[in-house]
Amino acid sequence: MKTKLSVNINKVATIRNARGGNNPDILKVAKDCEAFGADGITVHPRPDERHIRRADVTALRAILRTEFNIEGYPSKEFLDLVLRVRPAQVTLVPDKPAQLTSDCGWDTVAEQDFLRDIINEISAAGIRSSIFINADIRMAEYAAKAGADRVELYTGPYAHNYARNREEAIAPFFETAKRVKQLGIGLNAGHDLSLENLAYFTDVIPWVDEVSIGHALICDALYMGLEATIAAYQKCLIK
Ligand code: PXP
Repeated sequence: MKTKLSVNINKVATIRNARGGNNPDILKVAKDCEAFGADGITVHPRPDERHIRRADVTALRAILRTEFNIEGYPSKEFLDLVLRVRPAQVTLVPDKPAQLTSDCGWDTVAEQDFLRDIINEISAAGIRSSIFINADIRMAEYAAKAGADRVELYTGPYAHNYARNREEAIAPFFETAKRVKQLGIGLNAGHDLSLENLAYFTDVIPWVDEVSIGHALICDALYMGLEATIAAYQKCLIK
């Protein structure tokens, strides 16, 4: 199975919010991403609504035809939202409310009971759960133990070290990904993936189910246009 591309449209909402109107229209952008070949759409509503707003999440749910993935810290407000909207997948991230962007995974050992309770609620609603973790075998094992359907590997360190030594950069991801496969759960990856580093990641770890990509993809779209950009990212995923 080819790795799926979920386009994170947070950045588009950031541009919209800069002027207070509805330009760019994120519903149109999401539909166009689907038409241009995205396999899914990801959003990360934050408590301060600095990019995606809760109202966007509801509106997107009504129009999307591909897989909708909602990421966030499982506050009561977040859980109420996702249980009402019922996307295909919820990705739990350990972010503090004012955090600029996700910069590490869960401590699935210390947070085991907390995560299990949340995952139970999400699963009972028929939503697939994914837990954001660092490339760490123990964190993957305890994510599985908590009942997660998938883990999402935080690929920031891979992207950061890619240019210096890509074999070294991917090694802990490969080891963790092998364990994830043995555990029988799904594998997602995201953060700082780009046209430079994406193909190698999925060459070495072809069993990645889904990558979610926002920042680099939207930046590339400024030069290449959204349609050509999505095609270029999809090309990296075809093996
Ligand atoms: N995965 C998670 C959990 C994230 O928080 C983000 C950023 O919102 C991404 C993936 C996408 O990262 P990037 O914008 O660097 O592609």
